Amino acid sequence: MRTYLLLLLILLTFIACSSAPTKKYDTEYEASEEISYEGWEQQTRLNKDVLDSASHNAYIDIYANDLGVNAYLKRVNKFPVGSELFKPLYADKKRKNIVRLVIMVKKEAGYDSEHGDWWYGVYDKTGKEAWYQGRIHSCIKCHTIAKESDYLFTDSVMDDIEMQDF
Ligand code: HEC
Repeated sequence: MRTYLLLLLILLTFIACSSAPTKKYDTEYEASEEISYEGWEQQTRLNKDVLDSASHNAYIDIYANDLGVNAYLKRVNKFPVGSELFKPLYADKKRKNIVRLVIMVKKEAGYDSEHGDWWYGVYDKTGKEAWYQGRIHSCIKCHTIAKESDYLFTDSVMDDIEMQDF
């Protein structure tokens, strides 16, 4: 009986551990590199009112650094290297609680040429702690829908933003 229980315990432990995320990073490329985006909220917020994001299932804002802002506003189809985009996700409309921060950074050609050379990050609200980063497969998969506009959903977001100005 005891052996049976012990085996069961080992089995349960095995199941629990194997289903938990074992790797923090999707890529070994940057596994040792922890980049901090502390101060991200000092960048420019593109929208006025909070946006309702169906795809990310949350309320969102979109921030960008100077390189990113200009490109985004002009809806370019190739963003300059160094463009940084930040999207805080809130649980509520009043922007009280940032659940997480998703980030995209345009890297040099060759970083991930098949997918527009974007680096993806999922961070805590301070922008200091990375939960996932690199060439995150699930992000790439959906952002590929917007391949024509350099993997960013510029058009739909800008349409929403411009609506807010009227
Ligand atoms: C199911 C589709 C989908 C997935 C998966 C997804 N995104 Fe997005 N993402 C969108 C859409 C649509 C937008 C446009 C704004 C909105 O509606 O939220 C967006 C916007 C963004 C933006 C702002 C720049 C832009 O494209 O306008 C960033 C940054 C971003 N996502 C990061 C990520 C990261 C990091 C991941 C992976 C953890 C991810 N996204 C996964 C659909 C997705």
